[in-house]
Amino acid sequence: MDTKLLTVSQTKEYWEDNISVSDTPQLISLFSGCGGMDLGFKKAGFDIIYANDFDSDAQAVYSLNIGEIDKRDILSVGEDEIPDGDILTAGFPCQPFSNAGNRKGVYDSRGMLYKECLRIIKKKMPKVIVFENVKGLLSTKYIDGRNLAEVIIEDLSDMNNIGYNVVYQLVNASDYGVPQNRQRVVFVGVRKDMGITFQFPKKQDKKKLTLNYVLDLPDNVANNIDWPLSPQALEMVQYIPEGGSWKNVPYEHLAPRFQRIRNNMKKYHSPNFYRRFSRDEICGTMTASAQPENCGIIHPTENRRYTVREVARIQTFPDDFNFLTDTPRNITAMYKVIGNAVPVTLAYNIASAIMEQVFAKGKQNK
Ligand SMILES: C[S@@+](CC[C@H](N)C(=O)[O-])C[C@H]1O[C@@H](n2cnc3c(N)ncnc32)[C@H](O)[C@@H]1O
Repeated sequence: MDTKLLTVSQTKEYWEDNISVSDTPQLISLFSGCGGMDLGFKKAGFDIIYANDFDSDAQAVYSLNIGEIDKRDILSVGEDEIPDGDILTAGFPCQPFSNAGNRKGVYDSRGMLYKECLRIIKKKMPKVIVFENVKGLLSTKYIDGRNLAEVIIEDLSDMNNIGYNVVYQLVNASDYGVPQNRQRVVFVGVRKDMGITFQFPKKQDKKKLTLNYVLDLPDNVANNIDWPLSPQALEMVQYIPEGGSWKNVPYEHLAPRFQRIRNNMKKYHSPNFYRRFSRDEICGTMTASAQPENCGIIHPTENRRYTVREVARIQTFPDDFNFLTDTPRNITAMYKVIGNAVPVTLAYNIASAIMEQVFAKGKQNK
C-alpha cells in the first residue's frame, strides 16, 4: 500500500534543509478549527504563533495535536493581542455561503466575519494572506451588489497604501493528493512590496486516489469508531450496492420523506442521496453533518457510516493525529470538526508552494 497518498511526505525539517528558509515564517491562524489547514502549513515548515477558534470541540482536538489556541470569539480579540506574523490564514465560516444551506451570503452576520480578517490584516500587514472557503463564495453578492470575490480583491489590493497581489482559484482537493472530490476556493495574497504574484501548484495525478487505499487500516488504529446509523437509515442502506445510492432502494423500504421525494423527482431535481462510493472511486465531499443524505458517508461494503478514523483519512489527517471518541457526544462532534477541516494534504501543497515562492532564501528580502 502506498501510504504517501495519505500522509504528507515531507516535513518542516525537509523544507528547512532543502529550500533554505532563512527564518521559519511565523503564522497567524484565524478560524483554526481542529487544525487541518494548520497541520498542512506546519508540515511545510511554518511556525504557528497564534491560533483562534471559539468552538470547544475544535479547541480540544487542536490543543491535543497542534498546540495552544485562543478560545475567544474573534469579535472580542483586539488586534494588539495577536502577535505579528509573516503569514495569516483564515477559513472564515462557510455555512452562510454553502450551497447546502440557505444562501444569505454576507447578509448573514457570520458572513461579516470576513471583515474581522480584514481588521486584523490591516493592523498586522503580514507578507502573505490565505483565505479558504466553499465554492458558493464565488456566486455570493456583497451588500452593494458586487461579487464578494471582487470585493475581497479590492479590499486587499490597496490596503494601507501598500496592498496585496491577490489571486484565487477554485481547487478540487482530489487534484492535490486527497482521495475526495471537494471543491474549495482559495485566495492567496502576497504583499505588493514582495514583488511576487502567487502561482497555484500544478495538479497531481489522481490514479491512486481510490478509497481502497484509505480503508486499509492498520490494526488498533485510534478512533476507529463509527456513529451508528438511525434505524431508518440502516433499513435503506441494506439495499444500496457498492457504487449505488438511494435510487437502488425499493420504494416500500424508503423512509416516508424519501417516498415523497421519489413521488416527484422532477420537483426535487433528482437528488442523489445516500451515495455509497465504491472502493475504486474517489470519495464525495465529507461534510460536518456526516448525514448519508448529503455526503458519501456510507462504507462501500459494510452497512455503517465510516468510522472517525476513516473520515479523518479521507480528509488526509495522519493516523497519529488524535480525535476524541470516548463518548457518543464526542464521536458526533469529531465528524463535525473533521468535515469542517481543510484536507491536510491540500493545505500542505498550497503551503509548500507559498514556502518556495515567497519564503525561500533570497526571496524574503523585506
Ligand atoms: C470551516 S471551519 C475552519 C476549519 C479549519 N480551517 C481547519 O482546517 O480545520 C470554521 C471555524 O470557524 C470557527 N468560528 C466561527 N465563528 C467564529 C468566531 N466568531 N470566533 C472564533 N471562531 C469562530 C468555527 O468554530 C469553525 O471551527
